[in-house]
Order: sequence, then C-alpha cells, then structure tokens
Amino acid sequence: EHIAIAIDGPAAAGKSTVAKIVAEKLNYIYVDTGAMYRALTLKALNDGVDPSDEAAVINLLLETNIELANDSTGQRVILDGKDVTEEIRYQPVSANVSYIAKLTAVRQEMLKRQRELAKDRGVVMDGRDIGTHVLPGAQVKIFLVASVDERAKRRHDENIAKGIPSDLDQLKAEIEKRDEIDTNRETAPLVKADDAVELDTTSLSIHEVVHSILQEVEK
Ligand code: C5P
Repeated sequence: EHIAIAIDGPAAAGKSTVAKIVAEKLNYIYVDTGAMYRALTLKALNDGVDPSDEAAVINLLLETNIELANDSTGQRVILDGKDVTEEIRYQPVSANVSYIAKLTAVRQEMLKRQRELAKDRGVVMDGRDIGTHVLPGAQVKIFLVASVDERAKRRHDENIAKGIPSDLDQLKAEIEKRDEIDTNRETAPLVKADDAVELDTTSLSIHEVVHSILQEVEK
C-alpha cells in the first residue's frame, strides 16, 4: 500500500524542513509543490509575462518543464533543464508567486502534475492545498502553523545561512501578504482540511514536529 502524507500551512511554517526529514525516514519521495509555483513564477518574470495575465501564464506553463530531483544536498529544482534551486527563493519570486498561484488554470495544471508525481509511491507532499485538493485521500494530513514573527525569524535565519539576501521586516511583510492572497483566493485557498491534525510549531523543535508526524503515520 502506498501512503501519502499531506503537509499544509501558511508561508514559512516549517513545512519543507520537516517534510524532507519525514520522507527520508520513511524512504518516501518528497514533493515541494511551492517550488513548482516558484519555478513558473521565475520563468514568467524572466520572460516578461505579466503574472495576472491568466492566458499568457497558462500558455507559458504548458511549455514549461519543472523537475524536482533529489540528491545528497537535498531537493534540486530544475526548470527547463536549468538548476534554479537557489534563484526561486529570491525576493522577486516570493513577492510575485501568490499572484501566479491564484490563477485557476495554473492550479488545475499543477494539480495534474502533482498527482502524477505521487502516483504509485509513498510520498510526503507539502503545500497549501494538498490535503484539501491535490491528495484529498491522503492517509495522514498535517496543518502546520506558527506565529508570523517566529516564521519570519526562521526564514530570515535560513536565508542568511544559505547566502540568500534577506531583510527581516521586508520578509515579515511579504509572508503576511502571501498568506492573505493564498487564504482569500477563489480556487483551492489555504485552509486546514477538516480531517487534518493541526500542529502549532511556534515553540516546538524540528525534532518534536517530526516525531509528532511520525506518530500520526503509525496510528
Ligand atoms: O511553499 P512556498 O512558500 O514555497 O510556496 C510559495 C507560494 O506558492 C505560496 O505562497 C502559494 O502562493 C503558492 N502555493 C500554492 N499551493 C501550493 C504550494 C504553494 O498556492 N500547494
């Protein structure tokens, strides 16, 4: 039997950090769906495509190849054959990704690609609508939350460690803006699935969060 674990929640709540560890421990594949929206956003920005032009963006997506490759350094994101793992974390992408992600046609195509990636294998998938739309039949659904100050601080520290330019106040404002757009969009908004377990990670360590999720898997 192939188990699916869905991990959703607002921006920078620690989803990818714990999802990666859980996937490794269970020997499942890890799929970071936010990276797919980010890769498309990077391409739109580079090609001068207006993020609010739904027809132009969906046409762009249909001719775009996005690969998530796992290696010893973690997950690499390959956009049309080029490694964009670092670039998709930069501020211009973060500032624009939620406008691209609210487009219904884009979400439909991403949902198709994401289900394909999860087919016939154990998977840990993180995003905003995994438990509600992409994998509604997932055996384990987790909704991770944390205070916005804690989320901004964690992401800031992570950026600094990775050498990504970072400004704490700007980061906090951007996280709040993204949450607002993601929560209020029409298609597949950010919301906890009825059957998801909510974990507030504000004062939990990574190890504690991973442990809680593994306990849910064993139930
Ligand atoms: O997970 P991450 O913060 O990298 O996601 C970036 C953005 O991609 C989110 O703010 C959201 O707008 C969009 N997204 C989404 N649905 C997902 C994953 C990400 O709309 N399943």
